[in-house]
Amino acid sequence: MTHLPYAELHLHIEGTLEPELVMELARRNDVTVPYRDVEELRAAYAFRDLQSFLDLYYANMAVLREPQDFADMTTAYLARAARAGVRHAEIMFDPQAHLVRGVPLETVVEGIGSVLATSEDDHGVSTVLIAAFLRDRDEAEALDVLDRLLAAGAPIVGIGLDSAEVGNPPAKFARLFTRARAAGLHLVAHAGEEGPAAYVTEALDVLHVERIDHGIHSMDDDALVSRLVAEQVPMTVCPLSNVALRAVDTVADHPVVAMLERGLNVSVHSDDPAYFGGYLDDNLAALTTSLGLSHEHRVRLAENSVRASFLPGDRRDALLARIAAASA
Ligand code: ADE
Ligand code: ZN
Repeated sequence: MTHLPYAELHLHIEGTLEPELVMELARRNDVTVPYRDVEELRAAYAFRDLQSFLDLYYANMAVLREPQDFADMTTAYLARAARAGVRHAEIMFDPQAHLVRGVPLETVVEGIGSVLATSEDDHGVSTVLIAAFLRDRDEAEALDVLDRLLAAGAPIVGIGLDSAEVGNPPAKFARLFTRARAAGLHLVAHAGEEGPAAYVTEALDVLHVERIDHGIHSMDDDALVSRLVAEQVPMTVCPLSNVALRAVDTVADHPVVAMLERGLNVSVHSDDPAYFGGYLDDNLAALTTSLGLSHEHRVRLAENSVRASFLPGDRRDALLARIAAASA
């Protein structure tokens, strides 16, 4: 099956670390992991909630030590994403998760950045990088890391907010987002994944984000939904992630089609594909099978993804034209 051109807007590069690569890097870097083999590691991929996933996600990062490790992970993602129809990717990484392990920012940025710099030539996928901040850590640390990223000239176009949501509301990071905005960076934040609709409102009104990552709990608040429709706020929804982390029972129960039909500006993304059972094409296939996603829905999702991207107008128009040609 050929895939429509698509912009992947909600993707954590550390969430693309497949079990095979975890084990290979553990050997290469002489890092001990508590799993005998790939099968044993894969068996640990059964999650109760966001926190149970985050525990494994951060633990597996122990194998990422050298620039080449980050580069290999990024290359593997781009090759797989290209096969899924991704033609542009806005990739998040978690600088603090590496700093706390003693891996310098330069190692992370060099490893990921070296691959992104040639992604269009090598994979046919244009890319930008977004630094995501861990909301379960304090704002002072985030401010320091942002300053260090900017001072180092890290090739980031924006910042995001991720990790454990409940109890860590967006307003905790008001100064971080103000500083990033002043530096000319784009702003996105996870909100309404496990947390309440009120966090979505706060991300918009206090952080002034341009996109909401997830946002499915917006559906609990009719007034918020009306606002999101009126303002056409982009929402990057990740169905296989929501099912894996038990925010939604099954794909058949996922609100994404209802969100589309309500007029919300949603697009579908893969979040942490190595952990949640699939890449962008797998998410779309699951929705097609279990939720009756139609060809028209798929075209709308692809168009929404490109329009919600931070691409300059000419590349955006070119991708929209390719979607139109591919869907005719
Ligand atoms: N970090 C990586 N994946 C995440 C998710 N789905 N929610 C919050 N933080 C994350
Ligand atoms: Zn995410």
